[in-house]
Amino acid sequence: IPVTINATSSLSAQVGRDTLAAAGEVAVLGYGGGLLGPTIRVQKNQNVNLNFTNELTEHTNIHWHGLVIPAAMDGHPDHMVMPNKSFNFQFAVNQQAGTNWYHPHLHGLTGKQVTEGLAGLFIIESDEEKALNLPSGVHEIPLIIQDKRLNANGTIKYNPAMTEVMTGFMGDTILVNGTHKPFLEVGTRFYRFRVLNGSTARIYNLALSNGADFYVIGSDGGILPQPERVKTLMLGSGERADILIDFSDVAVGKMVYLMNEEFSGMGDAQGKQTYKIMSFDVNRSENEDFMLPASLIPFTKLSGASQTRPFKLTMSMGHSKAGMHKINGKVFDAARIDQSVSFGATEIWEFDNSTGDEAHPMHVHGVQFQVVARTGGRNTILPQEKGWKDTVLLAPKEKVQVIMKFEQKGKFVVHCHNLEHEDDGMMLNFEVV
Ligand code: C2O
Ligand code: CU
Ligand code: CU
Repeated sequence: IPVTINATSSLSAQVGRDTLAAAGEVAVLGYGGGLLGPTIRVQKNQNVNLNFTNELTEHTNIHWHGLVIPAAMDGHPDHMVMPNKSFNFQFAVNQQAGTNWYHPHLHGLTGKQVTEGLAGLFIIESDEEKALNLPSGVHEIPLIIQDKRLNANGTIKYNPAMTEVMTGFMGDTILVNGTHKPFLEVGTRFYRFRVLNGSTARIYNLALSNGADFYVIGSDGGILPQPERVKTLMLGSGERADILIDFSDVAVGKMVYLMNEEFSGMGDAQGKQTYKIMSFDVNRSENEDFMLPASLIPFTKLSGASQTRPFKLTMSMGHSKAGMHKINGKVFDAARIDQSVSFGATEIWEFDNSTGDEAHPMHVHGVQFQVVARTGGRNTILPQEKGWKDTVLLAPKEKVQVIMKFEQKGKFVVHCHNLEHEDDGMMLNFEVV
């Protein structure tokens, strides 16, 4: 359910363990409801004031994934909200329209808390975006795709074994918006879907069962300069894509499935099969009031980087359960500052997975970046990478360069968004000074 936070009003989000009495219902984590949290919608240039109370029996926090906000509001693993404590988030949203999200960010516990239900969307809207007249209201639907593993009693299982810390903890049940076997009744027209891969590790290669093309109109943190027509769209953990699907050629009474199409080259545990994610049941003819625009929202390409900073991704087999995944040879240490960046600097960061055999969706806090190059592996910039990003998927053998400008001071993290890798220590601190 969309919740609007007005410039001056505040929303109380409470996190609690919902123990539902009815048979067939089980305890999960949520933000004041069942699985997942409210979709928060704000307008560009609004101020957000949000009270957060932790009603869990363990510590948690909230990280606003994709938001370019002060370090003190970012939800660094240092910032913990202990049980029965509250935190007041206040920040201004000055970035472009896009589909961001929020989730806990504790070193060692992120995978568990996200899997158990803590995540939600944070959507930024703007006047420029409104002028595009994209499908809206009932024709604009967020889709949070997550895989879960369930215990026999229906509770969510999260107990990665050492091999699953390496590959990622893969669920056997795919949920969309917390729903099993999800379907959506649609009319014969264009729909806008804001897709989040909210899984801890699973990569999805989205496709439609009728083989139809669809259009990518937005990346993680913004609208693309023009629609990109695709047949498949790969999203790693933490990545988002804003897509348009046209159902106008589908006969009323037919179903179209959103599929994962089998893929390879992303490590042994990923992509092995084609399966259904959800179904679109075309149940009515509807008049179209939308025409796909030739161009969307242009943006200026960043240039003039003062340096290229290397981030070498490695994995070493060890006997200890923690610390097999490293960046620049290091495992996360909350107290250590690994990189120092000058406030206002523009830099290229190079993620190097050239010797790796697993995929790593690399994410940087406190910025939105642009992908400037991918060498090795797929050797190209993908359609969903032609706009503002905060998470970029590296296949084994790939090096990816991203460019960004650091406009928030303080301590942030850069990490792999495979949450098992992150919790294993594949994360570094950087400080903007
Ligand atoms: Cu979505 Cu540092 O995280
Ligand atoms: Cu983030
Ligand atoms: Cu990783």
